[in-house]
Amino acid sequence: MRKILVTSALPYANGSIHLGHLVEYIQTDIWVRFKKMQGNEVYYVCADDTHGTPIMLRAEKEGITPEVLIKKVHVEHSKDFLDFFVNFDNFYSTNSSENLKLSQDVYKKLKQNEKIYTKTIEQFYDPAKKMFLPDRFIKGECPKCHAKDQYGDSCEVCGATYTPTELINPTSSVSGSVPIKKETEHYFFKLSECESFLKEWTLSGTLQQEAANKMNEWFKSGLADWDISRDAPYFGFEIPDAPGKYFYVWLDAPIGYMASFKKLCDDKKINFDEFWNSDSKTELYHFIGKDILYFHALFWPATLKFSGFRTPTKIFAHGFLTVNAEKMSKSRGTFITARSYLDHIKNPDYLRYYYAAKLNSTMEDIDLNLDDFLSRVNSDLVGKFINIASRTSGFIHKYFDGKLYLDDTKTGTEHISITQKCKDIEGDVKTYFESREYGRAVREIMRIADITNEYVNTKAPWILAKNEEQQKQGSDLHIICSRSLESFRRLAIYLTPILPKLTQDIAHFFNEKEFKLFSDLNKKNITVNEYQHILTRIEKKDIDMMIESNKESLNQNTEASKESELDKSIISIDDFIKIDLRVALIKDASFVEGSDSLLKLSLDLNDGRLRQVFAGIKSKYAPEKLIGKLTVMVVNLKPRQMKFGLSEGMVLAARDQSEGPFILYPDQGAKPGMRIK
Ligand code: MSP
Ligand code: ZN
Repeated sequence: MRKILVTSALPYANGSIHLGHLVEYIQTDIWVRFKKMQGNEVYYVCADDTHGTPIMLRAEKEGITPEVLIKKVHVEHSKDFLDFFVNFDNFYSTNSSENLKLSQDVYKKLKQNEKIYTKTIEQFYDPAKKMFLPDRFIKGECPKCHAKDQYGDSCEVCGATYTPTELINPTSSVSGSVPIKKETEHYFFKLSECESFLKEWTLSGTLQQEAANKMNEWFKSGLADWDISRDAPYFGFEIPDAPGKYFYVWLDAPIGYMASFKKLCDDKKINFDEFWNSDSKTELYHFIGKDILYFHALFWPATLKFSGFRTPTKIFAHGFLTVNAEKMSKSRGTFITARSYLDHIKNPDYLRYYYAAKLNSTMEDIDLNLDDFLSRVNSDLVGKFINIASRTSGFIHKYFDGKLYLDDTKTGTEHISITQKCKDIEGDVKTYFESREYGRAVREIMRIADITNEYVNTKAPWILAKNEEQQKQGSDLHIICSRSLESFRRLAIYLTPILPKLTQDIAHFFNEKEFKLFSDLNKKNITVNEYQHILTRIEKKDIDMMIESNKESLNQNTEASKESELDKSIISIDDFIKIDLRVALIKDASFVEGSDSLLKLSLDLNDGRLRQVFAGIKSKYAPEKLIGKLTVMVVNLKPRQMKFGLSEGMVLAARDQSEGPFILYPDQGAKPGMRIK
C-alpha cells in the first residue's frame, strides 16, 4: 500500500470556478479516486489562493474587507467542487494560521541557509493611491505596435512582452494617475544558486518530457533571483522582522498545499512529518496547468529543498481548455462557469466523461467541442453503456428473481468469452489511469461496451423470452442477460473514478451501496433491482441556453453601465430566455359569460393540443375577427385558475392608459409553434 499526497493548484479567491479550472480538478479527482480504489492511503488537498493585490483591490471595489470576500468565495468554490464530485480531503484557505506558521518557518530556514538577501529596486508607484503597482495594474501604449490600453507586462495585440517602464504614457489602472518611479527595498530568494540542484531534480524523472524541455530552456537563459516581497498595502502575510513588507503571494501559495494538509493531519491524526520530512518515503504529486510550471518546477522545489523539506515526487502539468477550438470568451458565451453548467446541463458526470475521454498525460490543450460533447455523451454513455442494462435487466428481474446466473461449468465458451474480454482489459485500464491516459482507458472500456452490445444484438434475448422454456433458471436467456449485466457491472467499476455519481446509481441497481475498491470486481452472487431510468440524453437546447446565458455584452462592466434607474429594471439574458414565446394560431375565440373584458381564446401551437387563454381584449376585438389569425403566446406561464376556467398562458398586446389593446401579429410566413427568440 502506497502513501500518497495529491494536490491541485489553488484557485484564486477572486473569481468563479469555470470549465477551464475543472479540467484540472476533474483530472486530479479521477486520479485520486483511482488510487483510492486500488486501496492506497491517499489524501487530496487544495485551498483557495487568497493573497495578493488583485484580491485586495477587488474587495475594496465591493466595499468589503478581503477577509469577507475570501470567505464568500470559499463558500462558492466549495459548493462548486462538491457539486462536481471533486472530492478533496480538505479544501482550505491560504489565509490560515497553519499557513502563516509554515510560511514563516520556511522563510526562516531559507534565511538560515543564506538563500535570502535584500536589494533596493525601482518600482512603479501610484502617488494618488499611495501604493506600488504590479505590472498588471499599469496600462499604456505598447512600445512595439503602439496599441493603446495595454498591460504593463505584455501587449495583447502584438504579443510583445516588456517591462512597465517601456510603456508609452503609462497610467495606473487603480486611480488613473500617472505612476512615478520609486525606490524600495525588496527581499530576494537566491534561485540562481539552486541551478545544480534543480538540474539534478529535473533529471530524476519528476517532469513530463515537454516540461523538462521547458526547464532546459530556462536553464539556458539563466535563473534570475526571485523577488519574494511586496510593500504595504498588501493583503498577505507580513515578513518576520520586516514591518511593512509582505510575502509575495506566490511564496505562501504553494506552502498552502502543506498548510491544508497540516489541518487535515490535525483533524484526522495523520502524521504530517512522515509526508514532509526531507527523507520522506511517501509520494507527493502536484497537478497544475502549464501556465504555472515555472512556479512549481523552479521556485517550489528549490524552496522546499533549501528549507529542509522533501521535494515533489512528480509534477503533472496539463494543457489549457479551449471551447469550440477557441480561447474561452465572454462575448461568445464560452467562458462558462461551473455553476452555469450545473444550472443548464445539470449532470456533472457528462463533463467528467468528456474530459476523461479527451485527457492524456501531455501538456497539449484540450478542446471542449460542444457538438462533439453532446453526441459523444449521448452515444457512448446512453447509447452504448447504459443500453446494455436497459435491454437485458428486465428479463432477469421478471423471470429469474433478479439473480444473475454465472456458473462457468454450465455455460458455453461463447458466453464465457464475453466476461473474459471484459476481464482482459483490467490491467490496461489500470495502467492507463495510473499514467493519466484517461482517453485510452475510456476507449478500451467503450470497445468492450460495443462488443457486449453486439452480443446482445445477435442473441436477441427479447425473442428468446417469448419461449416459455427460456424463462427457466439456467436457460440461454438467463445466461445471455447475466453475462451482459456482469460485463456492465465490471465496466461500471472501471468507470467509477470518472463517473462517481452514475456508477453509484449503478451500484444501487446491483443492490450494492457503492463500488469502493477494484476488489469489488470479484464479487459473486450478483443480483439486480428493477431497472429504473439511470441516465438521460443531453439536449441541444440546454447547451444553447448555457451559451446564451454566459454571453456578456461588450460594454458590460464599463463605467458607462453604472447603475441607473433603467438599469435596475434590466434583466439578464438568463431571465429573458426563460420566457417561452411562440407563434400561436387562434383556432377559436368566444365571449366569456359574466365578463365584460375577457375573450376566451383557443390557441394552436402545432403540437397536437389546444391551449385555452383568457385575454382582456374584448373592448377592442370581436371574436370572429380573431379566428384564423396568428399571434404571439407566452407558453410557459404557470397556468392560472380563473373564475371562468383555466388560463394556460397569455397573448401579447400593446396598450397604454388611453389606447389599446393592440394584439401582436407576426409577420407573414410565420407558422404556428415557431419560437420567438
Ligand atoms: N492561484 C494560482 C495557483 C497557485 S498554486 C500554489 C492560479 N490560480 S488559477 O485560479 O488561475 O488557476 C488554478 C488552476 O487552474 C491552474 O493550474 C491553472 O492552470 C488552471 N486553469 C485555469 N484556467 C484554465 C484553463 N482555461 N484550462 C485549463 N486549466 C486552467 O494559477
Ligand atoms: Zn503591441
